[in-house]
Amino acid sequence: MPIYPHIIRPLLFALEAETAHNIALAGLKKNFVPAGRLISYDSLKTNILGMEFTNPVGLAAGFDKDAVALPNLSRLGFGFLEFGTVTPKPQKGNSQPRLFRLPEDMAIINRLGFNNDGLKNFLRNFEEAKKLAQSCPLGANIGKNKETEDSVSDYILGVRALSDVADYITVNVSSPNTPGLRDLQVKPNLEKLVGSVMNEREGSYGKPPIFLKIAPDLDEQDIRDVAEVAKDMQIDGLIATNTTISRPKYLTGRLSQERGGLSGAPLRDMSTQILKSLYRSTEGKIPIIGVGGVFKGTDAYQKIRAGASLVQIYSAMIYRGPYAARHIALELAGALAEDGFSNVAEAVGVDSDKTG
Ligand SMILES: Cc1cc2nc3c(=O)[nH]c(=O)nc-3n(C[C@H](O)[C@H](O)[C@H](O)COP(=O)(O)O)c2cc1C
Repeated sequence: MPIYPHIIRPLLFALEAETAHNIALAGLKKNFVPAGRLISYDSLKTNILGMEFTNPVGLAAGFDKDAVALPNLSRLGFGFLEFGTVTPKPQKGNSQPRLFRLPEDMAIINRLGFNNDGLKNFLRNFEEAKKLAQSCPLGANIGKNKETEDSVSDYILGVRALSDVADYITVNVSSPNTPGLRDLQVKPNLEKLVGSVMNEREGSYGKPPIFLKIAPDLDEQDIRDVAEVAKDMQIDGLIATNTTISRPKYLTGRLSQERGGLSGAPLRDMSTQILKSLYRSTEGKIPIIGVGGVFKGTDAYQKIRAGASLVQIYSAMIYRGPYAARHIALELAGALAEDGFSNVAEAVGVDSDKTG
């Protein structure tokens, strides 16, 4: 009998959502979760922007905001891990309750508001933990403090502090829970931000690839603008998408009208559509990480066919458990083989011209 859905999940789901998350993270921090068996399929190995991935399924930002459980997470079967969002100064985030499960919808709503222990602490954890981790690309996701008026300056601090240690850096302009943050996606603001970030990165010894993470609540013109800025400013990669502020009508969860960002199954197709448009608008030249509602190998495969070079998961960790990435990667290997692809890179974008 699988332990997670039958024993661990019911116990965790009996607790308030944020308490359950903190307990799970504490268990991972103490290395309580046994390592997953290594996945070694040639069809899953991929190389993006000079980074080598044993499989394309990564952990999305927000699960471990302060990189406290990095070593244990690195042994669960993920192809890569992203930590943060970290802001220059520590901050508490919004008042509780601020995290809600919608089990009927396989979804989560959060309005955490970048609760984290700040850049200095993140850097220390990240550097220490790296030495104990199983090797895989490690990303750092950066944001701004709620009170900071000059947003760009906060991102510069993030890039400056993390360029030497992170394998890649994600500029997060898409969380719905920091007032004004998503306005940074508007073209002139985005140009200014990305220009400054790329400039700062050029001066850094480490020169990690820079990714930009966008919201699913963008229209076609917004996506074209993002693509144009990404191309003009030679941003290395894109992440599509963060959580949505929209609420599909079919949601049945009791807590579905809570304020915040919705993730999980209801986000899946919405985020895949954004990914597809972004892939088309960038002519497939900029690697994209697809995230939103990936629970199974077929979900990952769909995003890859729509244009994702890599995928990430968060909600699947809650609903499927700590080995979700491993299961998804194995299922993906099956789907690739079934369609005759010898490597995941061959499947990237094959459906990008198809509508729907
Ligand atoms: C509780 C929670 C906290 C999150 N925090 C962050 C964050 O700090 N930074 C970020 O870029 N995304 C954050 N996200 C968004 C996820 O990284 C991901 O983009 C989103 O959940 C969609 O993926 P999923 O459907 O697999 O959960 C958070 C998501 C959840 C559920």
